[in-house]
Amino acid sequence: TVYPDEHIASVKVAHRVADLIRGKQRQGERAVLGLATGATPVEMYAELVRLHREEGLGFQNVVTFNLDEYYPMSPTAAQSYVTFMNENLFDHIDIPKENIHIPDGTLSKDEIVAYCLAYERKIEELNGLDLQILGIGRTGHIGFNEPGSAPNSGTRLVTLDDLTRRDASRDFGGKENVPTKAITMGIGTIFKAREIILMAWSQKKAPIIKKAVEGEISSDVPATYLQLSDKVEFVLDMDAASAL
Ligand code: GLP
Repeated sequence: TVYPDEHIASVKVAHRVADLIRGKQRQGERAVLGLATGATPVEMYAELVRLHREEGLGFQNVVTFNLDEYYPMSPTAAQSYVTFMNENLFDHIDIPKENIHIPDGTLSKDEIVAYCLAYERKIEELNGLDLQILGIGRTGHIGFNEPGSAPNSGTRLVTLDDLTRRDASRDFGGKENVPTKAITMGIGTIFKAREIILMAWSQKKAPIIKKAVEGEISSDVPATYLQLSDKVEFVLDMDAASAL
């Protein structure tokens, strides 16, 4: 779906998220959301905060699982995805703290495998993700599933691509300060969601959107795996869609 601009598109996606949450509330059920970080979802989160403040949208029945976190990373660091999520969403809504899950960047190396399996298990115990929100990196990554990621991959420790670290360098004051690794949900984890929305804005994303939507399905561009699913929607602004 192509919208005239990022703002209109973000509001539309936020309203779909709100409809899902309200629908689950009516049924006395939880809404289980997979969430993304980066610049892309910021306006969508801002609209959810507005709906909470001005239209009484409640998040008591919402459980969230974030896609990824840098490793190593302190949750209180300015660049952590914990800080990002708190500042952009969680600090402004009434979601119970225990309902929030973000991969832990403070684990020791030998704790990671068990932690990642437990992350997957928690999602399954809640009957899976109702909706997964995605952005896309210029390497074609979704979450931090960089080129080479397998379609059935699970939550795990990964090595970040050089381009990804370059793109993150502004936040860290130089590429040399960007962690070389991250913990990310896998492609397989993402695929289990009942609905997937990938959002992308601006000319900068046009080449990778073209590859993701029209390119040959290959681990060289992990987002091409999304072509294999019929429950995926790309929500784009005119610029990101301009090469299609
Ligand atoms: C980061 C995140 C991804 C995100 C991507 C795009 O690497 N781990 O989940 O989709 O960047 O970021 P942006 O939205 O800032 O372009």
